[in-house]
Amino acid sequence: MPALDDFSEDGPSIQWPLPQRDPGFPPAGPALRLGVMASGSGSNFEALVRACREGRLHGEVALLVVNNPGCGAQDRAERLGVPCQLLDHRQHASREALDHALVAAFRQARADLVVMAGWMRIVTPTLIAAFPDRLVNIHPSLLPSFRGIDAVGQALAAGVALSGCTVHLVNEAVDAGRILVQAAVPVLPGDSRERLAARIQRQEHRILPLGVRLAARALGIEGQ
Ligand code: GRF
Repeated sequence: MPALDDFSEDGPSIQWPLPQRDPGFPPAGPALRLGVMASGSGSNFEALVRACREGRLHGEVALLVVNNPGCGAQDRAERLGVPCQLLDHRQHASREALDHALVAAFRQARADLVVMAGWMRIVTPTLIAAFPDRLVNIHPSLLPSFRGIDAVGQALAAGVALSGCTVHLVNEAVDAGRILVQAAVPVLPGDSRERLAARIQRQEHRILPLGVRLAARALGIEGQ
């Protein structure tokens, strides 16, 4: 057991549902085609690419869309050899116009599922209706607590003892669609926003591929 003031350890974490490895995995048939949206560093995007390449998710990232030129996600796509398209929100007249462009890009990429992996824009019904039950988001809190921006700061300010992350389907209410998988981590004494966010992110990278798989399974498209 680490001492309470020893921050070199993450402390315990719990995830539910647990990672599943079926006897028949990977399923026969073509891999899922994933579209991914990212605005920042892109570590969750990379976690998805790695899960596909390491055989934990029977899929491939067919297209990454970023909205911030030069963001970390764009660099990662180049390094990983994943097609990447820039749709800069500053070049679009409205949220709807941006979402129409996203829909067109992901349709052209023949994406089965679209994952918002750190997309820092509010999406509109234009995108949500184009991918019903096929639009997945990751949020750094145990929803329904701490929706919206700065979820990690909100958790610290509330003084909770446990926080975590949630992979969920996107509907028209912000951070409120059906929950697919969650992981919980402790909030340790003296935690800064950065330290807690890093602890949560390590869990995000574990549960996002499973959330995608569960969404695909619910749709009956896993491995078809
Ligand atoms: C993640 O913490 C995610 O939960 C939030 O934005 C962050 C993105 O991080 N929505 P990264 O760009 O994947 O590293």
